[in-house]
Amino acid sequence: MRGMIAAALLAVVGTGVSQAQAQDAAAGEKVFAVCKACHQVGETAKNSVGPELNGVIGRKAGEAPGYNYSAANKNSGLTWDEATFREYIKDPKAKVPGTKMVYAGLKDEKKIDDLIAFLKQFDASGKKK
Ligand code: HEC
Repeated sequence: MRGMIAAALLAVVGTGVSQAQAQDAAAGEKVFAVCKACHQVGETAKNSVGPELNGVIGRKAGEAPGYNYSAANKNSGLTWDEATFREYIKDPKAKVPGTKMVYAGLKDEKKIDDLIAFLKQFDASGKKK
């Protein structure tokens, strides 16, 4: 019996079901609506007020080709892995003092989870993985 429970648990973890429930890309797209005032994502994404965000989860700060970053962002030395992105989006000016991103911050952990799930769908060329 114990073995069966362990096997069932492994199956759930292995297929990433728990992760999919925690992070909801469709809900994340709605959260991204506020970012869209300044950021684009997807195959036709271009830099606008802010840099395009294709493949941003895992990307180094300041790497969108052709975007004119502030020195603060460009030289931050950060990589937007999930943990760093999470801290940044809660309070951009605290994580990157001097950033020109005018955004007060998103505090809701669930919304941040969903936003990450949404952004993670896009590879560096903007294609959905
Ligand atoms: C009012 C415009 C504006 C809004 C709204 C905004 N951003 Fe930004 N964002 C910027 C600008 C401008 C930069 C460039 C910052 C710099 O160079 O200092 C930036 C930078 C970033 C970066 C760093 C990118 C890199 O290549 O280093 C990330 C990540 C980011 N924004 C995510 C978001 C997300 C997610 C949202 C929505 C929750 C959002 N931003 C909302 C303007 C905005």
